[in-house]
Amino acid sequence: MANHKIAILRGDGIGAEIMDATIGVLDAVCIRFKHKFDYTFPLIGGEAVDNEGVPLPQETVDVCKKSDAVLLGAVGGPKWDSLASHIRPEKGLLSLRSALGLYANIRPIVLYDDLKNASPLKNEILKNGVDITFVRELTGGIYFGTRGYRDGTLGQEAYDTEAYSVKEVERVARVAFQIAEGRRGKVTSVDKANVLESSRLWRATVARVAKDFPKVELENMYVDNAAMQLIKNPSKFDVILTSNMFGDILSDEAAMLTGSIGLLPSGSVGDGKRGLYEPIHGSAPDIAGKDAANPIATVLAAAMMLSTSLGLHEETGYIESAVRKVLAKGYRTPDIYTAGTKKVGCEKMGELIALNILNA
Ligand code: IPM
Ligand code: MG
Repeated sequence: MANHKIAILRGDGIGAEIMDATIGVLDAVCIRFKHKFDYTFPLIGGEAVDNEGVPLPQETVDVCKKSDAVLLGAVGGPKWDSLASHIRPEKGLLSLRSALGLYANIRPIVLYDDLKNASPLKNEILKNGVDITFVRELTGGIYFGTRGYRDGTLGQEAYDTEAYSVKEVERVARVAFQIAEGRRGKVTSVDKANVLESSRLWRATVARVAKDFPKVELENMYVDNAAMQLIKNPSKFDVILTSNMFGDILSDEAAMLTGSIGLLPSGSVGDGKRGLYEPIHGSAPDIAGKDAANPIATVLAAAMMLSTSLGLHEETGYIESAVRKVLAKGYRTPDIYTAGTKKVGCEKMGELIALNILNA
């Protein structure tokens, strides 16, 4: 019996429906294990802009800081696309990651056997399996560097800056090596050290951190080559360590190895236990409100939350195995539907996973 405070940030687009399905799954966990989760529902993103005029109200930060963990749906949509950058919905998410000190974003990319046919890649390439964990730096780099407009030699120009301090690289590298120790013992650090000064500092710093982890093999790879190797030979990767920007791009690419970005969770952590858990995908405004979204990414994000921030490991196992069983029985949301499987909506998919936990 455990009592935990969880901040639920539904956000925009499909955020509300994937979160409702996920709360149903967490309710099943509570019944099965006699836990009590206290939920609060602070605003973020476009919804916060509409109601409070800013994408991250101070109250949301305060509530998250008082919670044991934060679960987020998605932010953004065409409605807010023309807003100035400091009040765009995405800015709310970036500021929250920063305010909570969550510098390491962990993105497991796992291919389920039952979904090999949903991936656009040939079975030949997937035959050795895909089990990659991205560790993406989350509170630095070009996302947070100086930006603006200025007069250039060809007239007005805009700029963004990629800057990394030794400390920022060290702490995220440590997370990657620790994770690799518990896995297959390999870290591929991705950079563009043949061009960028910040990448050269990145590479040198990672090499120093590697010395503290003699059992882990370190491989350096340029980002362009990494983009190619992910498609050519995905089973060669174990842990991939990246800067903020490179990780954003490569993790979307890697998601397609598994069939759909709708399956993949992500957890952001810092020095404490509190983390922010969210799907990798965005707010998908084109399918919002149509009961067509895949809730599995958010359900698996909740599963990560239980073990990583709340120490509830057995419960995480129950959720993950429920997801596998429901997929094995042939249930598919539209994004992973293939002929001969059973198409279900977002709500039904959530119910099936919850029922599986109750009956396990
Ligand atoms: C992600 C998203 C965000 C990011 C956006 C919504 C700001 O793409 O979590 O990958 O770029 O970090
Ligand atoms: Mg992204």
